[in-house]
Amino acid sequence: MDAQVSLINEDIVLESMEEQPEVQEAPKSKKKKADLTLEDLPGVGAAIAEKLRGCGFDNPISIAVATPGELVNASGISEVVARKMINSARDMLEMGFESGNDVLKRREKVIKIPTGSKAFDAMMIGGFETGAITECFGEFGSGKTQLGHILAVNTIKTYPKSTVVYVDTENTFRPERIVQLAEGVGLDPVKVLKQIRVAKAYNSDHQMLLVEKIPELVKTDGLDIKLVVIDSLTAHFRAEFIGRGTLADRQQKLNKHMHALSKLADMNNVCVYVTNQVMAKPDQFFGDPTVSIGGHIVGHASTFRIYLRKGKKGTRVAKLIDAPNIADSECAFAVEQGGLKDVKTEK
Ligand code: GTP
Ligand code: MG
Repeated sequence: MDAQVSLINEDIVLESMEEQPEVQEAPKSKKKKADLTLEDLPGVGAAIAEKLRGCGFDNPISIAVATPGELVNASGISEVVARKMINSARDMLEMGFESGNDVLKRREKVIKIPTGSKAFDAMMIGGFETGAITECFGEFGSGKTQLGHILAVNTIKTYPKSTVVYVDTENTFRPERIVQLAEGVGLDPVKVLKQIRVAKAYNSDHQMLLVEKIPELVKTDGLDIKLVVIDSLTAHFRAEFIGRGTLADRQQKLNKHMHALSKLADMNNVCVYVTNQVMAKPDQFFGDPTVSIGGHIVGHASTFRIYLRKGKKGTRVAKLIDAPNIADSECAFAVEQGGLKDVKTEK
């Protein structure tokens, strides 16, 4: 990436847009929004377009939702020019305010991935949503990884042509478990495994890079990705940034990662499922003495937050603690060989 950036810097002058006042002008293109290309953006010539494409910015939408810093890194243009470019793309795509009806229309594209437990699905009003990030946090063995495997299989059960991307940071993805679960819902395990793309992330940078690569799978390979699992979201960040002094750096990086995930969910109508650990909070005297890693950064970027804990007799309890249109509630279920099952007794 560094080599690419320095190469890029050498010929920025070729297309320096700062001297071109027309960047601010309204676009002249009469094309349909879907047909617009990078070159339709005022001031973007072939050379800059090529550099942007090389870094994954291959249409005006990707420019419109980028941050100036990302474009500066990608194409070597100045921040001022990057801002103008972003604004032009937003104008061109009419990305200002929209009516509530338009939002409702977009929401119609949202699909739900069922968990297999009636109580859990009822709590989530049908299942885990696409276009959103759902975070599950809880202590070890609370079922976060199991839920990732179950959602992967259920996605393929519900949307037979879809693909699941599984970013495994703790080496806990188990194809054997997928086989069991696929058989549990009557699917051919070989086919299911083919439809799951697994990548092991070796550190937080690698994890972030893998997430950046996911849109390429959609564009280049034409995959219909409906679910992206990041298990665990925070383990690498937690291990690499130790001590209070590094907390701000960690949070900044985590924030960038969450931003990328939420863009991925939104732009590709993908369900992003992330798992998160908890740590003991020694100064908590009342209530639950645990707190999730990543704090507000992860919490605020997640659309839905679920707290998983172990219940009585091997059951699990999921508590929805933050959702935009669903009241906080709780449900109990059991992890069984064939998938999630409802249990009679709560808690
Ligand atoms: P950490 O990653 O350690 O934080 O935990 P986690 O929340 O990811 O826990 P995980 O999803 O790995 O849950 C482990 C629990 O799920 C086990 O204690 C079992 O109760 C259950 N489990 C795991 N594998 C199976 C399985 O193959 N069959 C059944 N029935 N239960 C399983
Ligand atoms: Mg796990």
